[in-house]
Amino acid sequence: MKIAFLASHGGSNMQAILDGCRDGSIPADPSLLVCNNPKAGAIDRARRSGMPHVVLNGKTHPDESQLDQAILGSLQASGAELVILAGYMKKIGPQVLHAYRNRILNIHPALLPKHGGQGMYGMNVHRAVIAAGETESGATVHLINEVYDEGPILQQARVPVLADDTPETLQARVLQQEHRLYPDTLAKIAQGEIVLPKA
Ligand code: GRF
Repeated sequence: MKIAFLASHGGSNMQAILDGCRDGSIPADPSLLVCNNPKAGAIDRARRSGMPHVVLNGKTHPDESQLDQAILGSLQASGAELVILAGYMKKIGPQVLHAYRNRILNIHPALLPKHGGQGMYGMNVHRAVIAAGETESGATVHLINEVYDEGPILQQARVPVLADDTPETLQARVLQQEHRLYPDTLAKIAQGEIVLPKA
């Protein structure tokens, strides 16, 4: 199973998956990183692991539909069967969504359907969880569709929210679970233990 990543920043989730592919716990072949940010740490990680990368963004393709088309072309040329969003801060265009229907995964740092939707990313999510007085948070791996954070949920991991948590301490606890949950979900897909809906 060939997989490709879309990332914008550090790429620690991508790294956890690359590590799993290398040690054989995920039977998948990482084929490409598509990155919108030329300064992203994810690019260094891709280089270190010998995975090709390409930078595609509003500068390389000012026209939105051409950018969508270019991302799709790169994904298809890499042979990717699954697309892994790993901290990708841009919306996926309609052409990629259509070509990879039910084959685009994302990880969200909360227990969806709670604390998702537009604007809910990064520290905003953990702030909202604490402000809502939740006693539990976690991470959700789900499929992407046209609506933010509303695609079918594949797996979740839970962590407690502690009385003295700051958004930063909560983020660290959730991220630790993300690094376990995302590789685990991919391994289960590759082994047929999780069956994705029809493409
Ligand atoms: C993670 O918190 C993930 O839940 C969210 O973006 C962040 C990416 O972090 N979608 P990293 O780039 O994988 O370190």
